Amino acid sequence: MERPEPELIRQSWRAVSRSPLEHGTVLFARLFDLEPDLLPLFQYNCRQFSSPEDCLSSPEFLDHIRKVMLVIDTAVTNVEDLSSLEDYLAGLGKKHRAVGVKLSSFSVGRGTVGESLLYMLEKCLGPAFTPAMRAAWSQLYGAVVQAMSRGWDGE
Ligand code: HEM
Repeated sequence: MERPEPELIRQSWRAVSRSPLEHGTVLFARLFDLEPDLLPLFQYNCRQFSSPEDCLSSPEFLDHIRKVMLVIDTAVTNVEDLSSLEDYLAGLGKKHRAVGVKLSSFSVGRGTVGESLLYMLEKCLGPAFTPAMRAAWSQLYGAVVQAMSRGWDGE
């Protein structure tokens, strides 16, 4: 896989990282639209959410959004040396497998998570989100998922 172009990644992330919670909410609202079956995987104190809106307004879920945006921020910071994150990302994959997430939700191509990430970037940046930036993000996402997928090894 080609390496993501660092400058395109950094430039496009600047606008998003100014309001991570707002943009992370766009990402997850899209994800629940595309794959509603993911909603029951989020349970805090054994409480099930009755709707995506219910989930998207809970403090615990907002914390998950912050965690997700922080991982992406770390990947952006380390875009030139993603191998330094490999062990962390493999562990993160393992945790997601343990809570019932299927690797297919993350997979490159048809995976709903990658689709929602690109959707959020497009919504945030509008026409400033160029095809070259989209390609760079697809590469970065692919590298992150490849590292996380080790957490599903042996499935
Ligand atoms: C299919 C989409 C996803 C589902 C269903 C999901 C689900 C969960 C659940 C249930 C937890 C445990 C509860 C919590 O900490 O809130 C969790 C933790 C976490 N998730 Fe996700 N997640 C998804 C996507 C992501 C993505 C894309 C990232 C970042 C790349 C991410 C990063 C994290 C982190 C950092 C934690 C905390 C892990 C720890 O406790 O050490 N999640 N996720």
